[in-house]
Amino acid sequence: AKVHHHKWEISYQFKSPDCLKKLAVTINGQTPGPTIYASEGDTVVVEVKNVLLTENAAIHWHGIRQIGTPWMDGTEGVTQCPILPGDTFTYRFVLDRAGTYMYHAHYGMQRSAGLNGMIVVRVPEGFKEPFTYDREHSILLNDWWHRSTYEQSAGLALPGKQFTWVGEPQSLLINGRGRFNCSLAVSGTCNSTHPECTPYMLTVVPGKTYRLRIASLTSLSALNFEIEGHSLTVVEADGHYVDPFVVKNLNLYSGETYSVIFKADQDPTRNYWVASNVVARKPGTPTGTGILHYYRVPRGRLPTTAPPTGPLWNDTMYRFNQSLAIHAHPSFNEPPPSKSDRMINLLNTQNRVNGLMRWSINNVSFDLPHTPYLIALKNNLHHVFEQRLPPDTYDVNTYDINTVPINPNATRSNSIYNLEFGSVVDVILQNANTLTPNNSEPHPWHLHGHDFWVLGYGLGKFNPELDPKKYNLKDPILKNTVVVHPLGWTALRFKADNPGVWAFHCHIESHFSMGMGIVFQEGVDKLGRLPEFIMGCGESKLGN
Ligand code: C2O
Ligand code: CU
Repeated sequence: AKVHHHKWEISYQFKSPDCLKKLAVTINGQTPGPTIYASEGDTVVVEVKNVLLTENAAIHWHGIRQIGTPWMDGTEGVTQCPILPGDTFTYRFVLDRAGTYMYHAHYGMQRSAGLNGMIVVRVPEGFKEPFTYDREHSILLNDWWHRSTYEQSAGLALPGKQFTWVGEPQSLLINGRGRFNCSLAVSGTCNSTHPECTPYMLTVVPGKTYRLRIASLTSLSALNFEIEGHSLTVVEADGHYVDPFVVKNLNLYSGETYSVIFKADQDPTRNYWVASNVVARKPGTPTGTGILHYYRVPRGRLPTTAPPTGPLWNDTMYRFNQSLAIHAHPSFNEPPPSKSDRMINLLNTQNRVNGLMRWSINNVSFDLPHTPYLIALKNNLHHVFEQRLPPDTYDVNTYDINTVPINPNATRSNSIYNLEFGSVVDVILQNANTLTPNNSEPHPWHLHGHDFWVLGYGLGKFNPELDPKKYNLKDPILKNTVVVHPLGWTALRFKADNPGVWAFHCHIESHFSMGMGIVFQEGVDKLGRLPEFIMGCGESKLGN
């Protein structure tokens, strides 16, 4: 196995990803940051220097389980102190499984400001994947706002009527490139011929087969991805092979990755659109476009057809059915344990806490502590976070998920769930109506440090008697991010076998910053001495 060294400088730079000039957080001057390529079993060393001058940083390696290295998870407040301006933090971890992964900031709303990228982990030499292709490409999907993330997060924390929602994104980006209509911008701020916003181009040779590694790191939007005229065969999800299935277009929620295979088998005398569209929220953002370029056609020639507009944005059944279509690949199926030791029901609601708009789980809205949990638990600093345990369930029998909450009050807390080391845990995510009548939104939930089996999805309220009988225990897919559909539920199972402290949260940046998350701890007593470089903030003194 190899060791890959990277030196990254995080800085603010003026960028024009959608032709409009804006300050963005970059890695070595780029957004998205450089793709990390490695092979299974390799070690990655990333020396991160924070040169933001006035802003902390931390980088999370999304989908990498950090087995035995929980302090490298990059989750500020959970596994480490933030990297102070001027400081360098060296991440070092093993890529223990091939697949498609991502990295992004895990501090404030910095991910939305541009600090994100992909990790491609190839299979070991000689290993045969259950599909073949001639070439591969990576596609990172994102959404993009013109207001700074400072303004966005400050607006979310304003009380009562002053609350300012981030709104719909101005642009959708494909590999960091989008296209804002410059005639709508203040003159001098937007340049439609800026090289940073020339559309992403995927060049293909007729008859060849391609693997696309597609990842979504949107801050808000659920997306639908399509290549005009070409069907996609889904073969991988979150680093696991799936039983191949064919789609016209693919729904992706923030935090998910997929590999799809397609053949360049259409009329080779023209180009085609690569498109991403917002689904599940009423779109207020134009289609994000790139170009599938058949190599004999002039590169810049735009298709004369209209870009695909995706499925109807409010067709929940369409998205629900695509979720159900995913199964583990028969040759790589690792079925889950048949029973669990504990069941945790998590009701997802929108609430108000002392006049502030918040998201809550079982009526508790999450706050990060100042002293990271990992250090607090290891060093017995019991007073730095709430010791009362958060609730394992909500009022399952009486809560009406179909109406605006009768009692929208919630509490704020930084308490965490203790999982017995090695136990099997079931989590039922239950979605509900928001504070707006007849409204419920999908939430993509991401678990750090583990993969979970997706045992089932439902629409409506989870029935604890009947629904577990319908669980897929035969070939459920393993994932690290899964959606809970509007007014629906999703059931997961995982083994609490990775000593550490792990965030589990909605991957919508504004939802997490408004409290939509929880934290699990397991087996922290099994860890050796923590590295000093993760300490220094709150009460985590160096040398403790
Ligand atoms: Cu990709 Cu805690 O997130
Ligand atoms: Cu959410």
